[in-house]
Amino acid sequence: MTKTERPRTQWLGRWGFVLAATGSAVGLGNVWKFPYMTGEYGGGAFVLVYLACILSVGVPVMMTEIALGRRGRGSPIDAIRRMASEAGRSSAWSLLGWMAMLCGFMILCFYVVVAGWSFAYLWKMISGGLAGSSVDDMAAIFSANNANPWSLGAWSTVVAVATMVIVGKGVQSGIEKSVSWMMPGMVIMLIIMIGYGAFSGGFGDALHFLFAFNASSLSSEGMLAAMGHAFFTLSLASGAILTYGSYLPREASIGRTTLTVAVADTLVALMAGLAIFPVIFANGMEPGSGPGLIFMSLPLAFQAMPLGTLFGILFFVMLSMAALTSSISMVEATVSWLTDNKGLSRRVASWGTGIVLWVISTMAMLSFNVGAEWTLLGKHFFDWLDFLTSRLMMPLGGLGMALFAGFVLRSEMLREELGLSPMIHGLWLFMVRYVSPLGILLIFVDALGWLDIDFAAQWPWLALVLAVVTLIGELTRPGLKRAFCS
Ligand code: PHE
Repeated sequence: MTKTERPRTQWLGRWGFVLAATGSAVGLGNVWKFPYMTGEYGGGAFVLVYLACILSVGVPVMMTEIALGRRGRGSPIDAIRRMASEAGRSSAWSLLGWMAMLCGFMILCFYVVVAGWSFAYLWKMISGGLAGSSVDDMAAIFSANNANPWSLGAWSTVVAVATMVIVGKGVQSGIEKSVSWMMPGMVIMLIIMIGYGAFSGGFGDALHFLFAFNASSLSSEGMLAAMGHAFFTLSLASGAILTYGSYLPREASIGRTTLTVAVADTLVALMAGLAIFPVIFANGMEPGSGPGLIFMSLPLAFQAMPLGTLFGILFFVMLSMAALTSSISMVEATVSWLTDNKGLSRRVASWGTGIVLWVISTMAMLSFNVGAEWTLLGKHFFDWLDFLTSRLMMPLGGLGMALFAGFVLRSEMLREELGLSPMIHGLWLFMVRYVSPLGILLIFVDALGWLDIDFAAQWPWLALVLAVVTLIGELTRPGLKRAFCS
């Protein structure tokens, strides 16, 4: 039995949740990961699949998670267990919550390393360490930055400590306050960068690269990557949004809130693409240069701009802040679970988690230097953390949440919680019952190579499959329900 019967903390202001959830969603995923993945997986086709996944899977699953959190009043584990028991179902469903909590923590273990890069580049900007560097120098600077375990470790430690200080302070004074000025700042910085990109000579190429849809350039692996990224960028299936949702006041509209967060997140990602790729093309750089992409390209742009150092400093301040508002959301599930169930104070729970984080993230950091040889099946520890979370745990967790909400709970439970109009509710139900699960499964099956699906060419067949599954599902639902829950 949990000890959470006291009233749960709530966000202070009307905008508290929106700001915190947007802060969680907008982060390195938008500015660092989205551009480099788009570069690696060939541009427009990746972007299109990513957008399709945001709409058809991301938005419905985000609504579900917020509703589960608010109604279940707790961390993912507690909230899902309560909801399952309210519906008279097995408490084993709380395993979904365990997976989400673990997933958020695993992401954090590599995220602090990348956030550390952002802090390190901020310092380089301030100290003039990047001035006068050519395209090749930038690549060398990025490698040198990773080659030194002491400074890399020091920067990720700074991020880990900052995260735990904010989380330790609590939901209102720690999290809510810090995001209210960082998000607008980030958007202004990106607009300035796009303005620069528009005149840099590479803008046309960038637009073409990002938005020209060329189905043949997207591999099965790229489709799975795009779907995984849709989960990652919206902070889904990792405990973050569900736990933030548990602090959401009853009167807030989940539908509207979700849309605001998803639109803001998508706009920032597209803006980051439009800020970064013009610089890449104008300087003859390789869009597929991997995780170092923004760290090699943006400093070049800052060098060429009037007041570039100032903008560079501002940019990396914003990026570091955006990373922090995401990192704090990744541990919130763990800290909330520890305080609710283990009787720990917030501070003790945060620091305890912080120590474990520090040890594991140090191992992830070593992948770039001392441990460059330590690989398993060709992947470093750092890459494994990313791969396991984005490609497996998040899509599977999302699938689990969708099925749980769509088939396992009694339908009135989330209907009350979501409070949508009947038509929109029907649409949401259709998405979580059929569209999202089928989409996730098909992309998995395709990536595993069991079936070679050409999504662009075979869409009429896929639509037919969806229609048939929906029909059978709705006709046999009572039977299906029993099958899922026994
Ligand atoms: N959405 C964050 C980003 O795009 C990452 C994140 C993942 C945050 C999972 C919380 C949980 O940077």
